[in-house]
Amino acid sequence: MCGIVGYIGNRDSKEVLIEGLKKLEYRGYDSAGIAVFTDNGLEIRKSKGRLAMLEDKLKNEPIAGSVGIGHTRWATHGKPSDVNSHPHTDNSSKFSVVHNGIVENYLDLKEELSAKGHIFVSETDTEVISHLIADEYHGDIVTAVQRAVKRMRGAYALGVLTEYEPTKLVAVRFASPLVIGIGENENFIGSDIPAILEYTRNVYILNDGEMAVLTRSGVELMTTNGDIISKEIFHVDWDLVTAEKAGFEHFMLKEIHEQPKAYRDTMMGRISEDGKSVVLKEIGMSNEQLRGISRIHIVACGTAFHAGLVGKTVIESLARIPVETDVASEYRYRSPIITPDTLVIVVSQSGETADTLAALREAKRNGARVLAITNVVGSSVAREADDVITTWAGPEIAVASTKAYTSQLIAFYLLGLYLAQERGMAQAQQVEEIVAAMHKLPEQVESILEQAELFKTVAEAMSKHDNLFFIGRGLDFAVAQEGSLKLKEISYIHSEAYAAGELKHGTLALIEDGIPVIALVTQEDLYEKTLSNIKEVKARGAHVLGIANAGYEGEVLKSVDEVFSIPRTLPLLTPALSVVPLQILSYHASLARGNDVDKPRNLAKSVTVE
Ligand code: G6P
Repeated sequence: MCGIVGYIGNRDSKEVLIEGLKKLEYRGYDSAGIAVFTDNGLEIRKSKGRLAMLEDKLKNEPIAGSVGIGHTRWATHGKPSDVNSHPHTDNSSKFSVVHNGIVENYLDLKEELSAKGHIFVSETDTEVISHLIADEYHGDIVTAVQRAVKRMRGAYALGVLTEYEPTKLVAVRFASPLVIGIGENENFIGSDIPAILEYTRNVYILNDGEMAVLTRSGVELMTTNGDIISKEIFHVDWDLVTAEKAGFEHFMLKEIHEQPKAYRDTMMGRISEDGKSVVLKEIGMSNEQLRGISRIHIVACGTAFHAGLVGKTVIESLARIPVETDVASEYRYRSPIITPDTLVIVVSQSGETADTLAALREAKRNGARVLAITNVVGSSVAREADDVITTWAGPEIAVASTKAYTSQLIAFYLLGLYLAQERGMAQAQQVEEIVAAMHKLPEQVESILEQAELFKTVAEAMSKHDNLFFIGRGLDFAVAQEGSLKLKEISYIHSEAYAAGELKHGTLALIEDGIPVIALVTQEDLYEKTLSNIKEVKARGAHVLGIANAGYEGEVLKSVDEVFSIPRTLPLLTPALSVVPLQILSYHASLARGNDVDKPRNLAKSVTVE
């Protein structure tokens, strides 16, 4: 997964490309490059490492021209290196390509082209595309691209330039996101909207099998079969400031602080005025269809999967429908039992995660109805699902997901209530009680955020350890898994989340003197059982930080070394509060270790390869 950007107009294209790539660095950042038409023809500058390295290179080796393409890479085929960086070219250096995705049959194509005399210099699949286009070129770049993509298997969003036709920029999409920005006497391509938002708010969102031919004066849309198509212009009504740091040191910190707003926005318009019912107009299922659901599968990756773990308990306890949860990369391969009365819920912040998208398609192929919970309007997941609940968290830039996760929890609460209500499982009074508690959550998060500084010292002490445990029971275990992932992602401390009662069946052997254990003790019906498990680790020398409900902190402190209290809410809603201290802890632990909080090593925000 990578980010691509392209420009054709009258500006200095290098500026547009670099600015666009900065917005796309979340998609990968192990190398970057640009290709620009200059007075000397098609010139390329590329460099291993962060975008800043490319910028340095451009100072020493300037490049000027008003048409170009750019790329920020997350390595899949071939290590991060200058030569493996995009843009790639053919042997004549007349064609240049940037690519996001994977060409699965690239080795076969490479062999065939090698036999024809093509010489390859990189280990990438993308280089094959530039050679293939060159091979298919007989005077018309559009036909050459169409012929080339017909021979490729896999996923691709491409930006293509050729020195033979310097007034054209060709873009094509299959299974990797791509948008076209429409300007005045200038046009753009980008892997997502923020990459081009500084210049235009009018975009076309390409579907699979569609391509665009951009000139300075216009954009022609067609399928890869050559059929001309027309599309509605999507007008973007959010602005770039929302995607910038707004005074916070890091995007992650800003996004943690945006959670109260994200909760309010995600609830807005979805609860009746009298607070007695949930209104999910976006769900197109009839009451009969809703009553007919016999099982639910929740499928997602990473943090979104952890939101699904909470979603399972929420739906099962409110609507009494059996729910299974799967990580998307496993779902398709276990032959899940999908019947027409199965509802598959896919959860994805970006709406572009390849594994999640593949699971969605598998579910649809098997006749299930698919409901998506996603943060990105117009994303692939949103467009392919039957029903979509958008989480209005706003753009999330930090790789470690925070506000998207908690907004997904809000979406699950709304959905659980809605299913219960429509299937006659919940009385208005119960809905009213839960909704009233949900309305208090934003303020309660604010009160946790006011105490954020308290975590600095604990996090600094934690950051000196190499191993750590999170424990909890029930919903606390679901949150423990997210807390543990957050910490691993950005602090690189190895941690494990364990169901508190399961620890004694093996993992307790790893507890030794001084090892930090973070114990979530918010589920009051499981309170005493969890305290017993805490005693088991304390007895073996662990240093325990307890996260407890207000009013219980005194009691919990008798069993732990330190305690942090969170405001009280209904047990089902506690995850929306208890995860916040864990996010802040991870943030400070990462800082204490001197890591790049927003762009942790080896990771990317949106993984559009399987
Ligand atoms: C990547 C990110 C994770 C994220 C996961 C799923 O691995 O690093 O933070 O949770 O993808 O992303 P999605 O956009 O589908 O929620």
